[in-house]
Amino acid sequence: METYADEINKRRTFAIISHPDAGKTTLTEKFLLYGGAINLAGSVKGKATARHAVSDWMAIEKERGISVTSSVLQFSYDGFCINILDTPGHQDFSEDTYRTLMAADSAVMVIDASKGVEAQTRKLFKVCVMRHIPIFTFINKMDRDANDTFELLDDIEKELGIATCPINWPIGSGKNFKGVYERESRCVITYSDTEKGTKEGHATRIPMEDKEALTAQIGEDFLSQLTDEIELLDGASAAYDLEEIQAGELTPVFFGSALTNFGVEIFLQHFLKMTTAPLPRKADVGLIDPASHDFSAFVFKIQANMNKAHRDRIAFMRICSGRFDVNKEVRHVQGGRVLRLSQPQQIMADERKILSEAYAGDIIGVFDPGIFSIGDTVCMPGEQFVYEGIPTFAPEHFARVRQVDTMKRKQFVKGIMQIAQEGAIQIFQEFNTGMEEIIVGVVGVLQFDVLKYRLENEYNVEIKLENLPYEYIRWIENKDIDLDKLTGTSDMKKIKDLKDNPLLLFVNQWSIGMTLDRNEGLILSEFGQA
Ligand code: G4P
Repeated sequence: METYADEINKRRTFAIISHPDAGKTTLTEKFLLYGGAINLAGSVKGKATARHAVSDWMAIEKERGISVTSSVLQFSYDGFCINILDTPGHQDFSEDTYRTLMAADSAVMVIDASKGVEAQTRKLFKVCVMRHIPIFTFINKMDRDANDTFELLDDIEKELGIATCPINWPIGSGKNFKGVYERESRCVITYSDTEKGTKEGHATRIPMEDKEALTAQIGEDFLSQLTDEIELLDGASAAYDLEEIQAGELTPVFFGSALTNFGVEIFLQHFLKMTTAPLPRKADVGLIDPASHDFSAFVFKIQANMNKAHRDRIAFMRICSGRFDVNKEVRHVQGGRVLRLSQPQQIMADERKILSEAYAGDIIGVFDPGIFSIGDTVCMPGEQFVYEGIPTFAPEHFARVRQVDTMKRKQFVKGIMQIAQEGAIQIFQEFNTGMEEIIVGVVGVLQFDVLKYRLENEYNVEIKLENLPYEYIRWIENKDIDLDKLTGTSDMKKIKDLKDNPLLLFVNQWSIGMTLDRNEGLILSEFGQA
């Protein structure tokens, strides 16, 4: 077979994560500015207006002015082909946000310098750690008054439990932001408030040895503070270790200001040096090598009705090996069928581009006539293997679903099953009954509204949701445990998923601890297997 090592080696696929408002969108715009994808920053998602163009597929998005879906952007820079997987930037994010991380080879975490680590970052970070993917930290908004730099690093280490290794170091912040010191080159890169939307133009590099030029640029006080801080940093911070970075055990930290386009290109350059092309991925037959193996991919996300006019459903796949060729047939392993993927497309910021080829590392969206499920494997017709499944992430909100018109039982079950198959919601049942009592679990509360809206609009079924007080769900790992003998707390609830796997719902962490204490040998897990 032909190999496409050159194309694949150019690929870098990362997800960008942050708490809303930390500057993820702005940073993404600036990345694209350096590549060939778009010419003017601002056209990715210009907030209220253009943002809708990105994923204008649902009225809820429009009404609330938020982005429920996520998109994929591709751009080229310095000979690399870079895929950015954007994640929904609203508090009410969904499981899709988590799943996007399953398709990325690394993650860029954007943190607001005046806020430090925030709730949403913490959750997403956990998934990155579970996957051992490299995490790069960009501390943004240095043009505004920032927290103390050492405290920011301390915050990351304490809150997220990962060692930090600053690649550059800020000099002042806010009105007094003077630039950054790049540790590798031992140079100060001076800050200039470049115009929004233009490339870094006026920044100058001054070696630390050139005290005269530095004093003139940043002033004596800042120079003396910087000299002290560098000494402290070199003595106290974790040493740069590429292996640890690539194993997700050490996060390189960068400081900058996405809005004024400072530190973005420095970030890109270091990032590209530290990341790898797509790595082999685990399947039931062993590791599949991206470059020497024929085409294979797995489905990490399914999205319905992206375009109202077509009522279509798109399956997003991450290509894990080889080259995707639109004219070739492939095997959908779980469906047991050989088929041609139709309308393969790349979902760009505001348009869908039909493509004829793509390589390991790329993400494609294909038309799905309702056959794909999250985690499915696609490979060449002569092959038969499955990639390791995507975990089911623990929902944090639960509600009992009641149908208003019980005559429409069939539509209701069909609708709710389909929506669950897409992965927007998870459905559970009471432990001792069947489908007559359905409990829905979601990662973000917005998904409740999405469920209600879609059942009404697509399946003509009206529902009522009764919120339940539980916030924690745990899968029971020991299959041999006698569930009738399980003694939990009085507020614990036993339920089961559609495959009859038993699960426990809890109102707080304390109850989980008590239940573990009371049942020797019980193993509970936060992630289930889809
Ligand atoms: P998000 O995708 O993470 O939610 O954040 P987004 O980029 O939309 O940025 C949130 C707000 O923070 C925006 O302001 C944006 O302009 C601002 N911002 C982003 N990076 C920087 C930075 O480096 N410095 C400063 N000072 N501000 C930054 P907004 O007023 O909410 O929107 P807009 O009217 O500017 O678009």
